[in-house]
Amino acid sequence: MRVIAITSGKGGVGKTFFSVNLAVALTKLGKSVTLIDANFTTPNTALISGYLTFFNTIHDYLSERINDISKVIYKTSYGFKIVPGSIDLNSMIDARIERFNLFLEKIKDEFIILDTAAGIGREAVSSIMNSKEIIVVVNPDISSIIDAKRVIEVCNRIDKKILALVANKISKKEDVKKIEKYLNLEVNLILPEDKRVKDSIEKRIPFIELYPSSYIASQILNFASYLSGELYEFKPNLFERIKYSFYL
Ligand SMILES: Nc1ncnc2c1ncn2[C@@H]1O[C@H](COP(=O)(O)OP(=O)(O)OP(=O)(O)O)[C@@H](O)[C@H]1O
Ligand SMILES: [Mg+2]
Repeated sequence: MRVIAITSGKGGVGKTFFSVNLAVALTKLGKSVTLIDANFTTPNTALISGYLTFFNTIHDYLSERINDISKVIYKTSYGFKIVPGSIDLNSMIDARIERFNLFLEKIKDEFIILDTAAGIGREAVSSIMNSKEIIVVVNPDISSIIDAKRVIEVCNRIDKKILALVANKISKKEDVKKIEKYLNLEVNLILPEDKRVKDSIEKRIPFIELYPSSYIASQILNFASYLSGELYEFKPNLFERIKYSFYL
């Protein structure tokens, strides 16, 4: 079982977008996946995964209202499982983040993906502490890069492996160079700025389901196959291949 936290320094960089699509991609490759909304204060992973009807959340387990983990795990129509977060403020106050570790130990899937809170506050660090591997998502704007540096420093200090640096919302080659230069780390996955991401979120259908032959879909599927040790190679359609070869 691999526990992978998807984190960032700044909010709104695309962690939830990436987490959901990575879960879909790994599932397509035959892996069992549980995606957990570990963004305890502003949860929305389940909604973005198209999962609208849930009654229990991870907060019910963390606050000891529920002790049976199967009651907070839901199967999505895309094959992976999801553990929703709660947007109820009272349940947030009751949540015991320490119980989170116990929760993770009980899940038996091959991959557990934690869609975390941004930054280095208590809940973000708790997710990082509970994961062996960390994926940092960053955007090309300087505040996102500066905040990412802080998260990377925290990971280094507590000996957590940065599995990958994902540059999201990229619109030119220089963006990637800027990120690599400032963070002194290689970008492992480049995801372009794409207006259709918003559509997919509004429709509550994962991007790679809606646009399976897009550049973004092939990038995430190739990354998932690298993670899972499968030797598939996904290629975007000719139009997107040519389009992005100019500036990525
Ligand atoms: N590659 C992209 N191209 C265009 N828009 C994007 C891209 N990735 C994400 N977005 C947009 O950015 C916004 C934030 O995405 P998302 O909710 O995944 O970020 P987040 O890091 O999870 O935010 P939070 O820190 O609040 O949890 C969404 O409106 C989404 O549509
Ligand atoms: Mg999010």
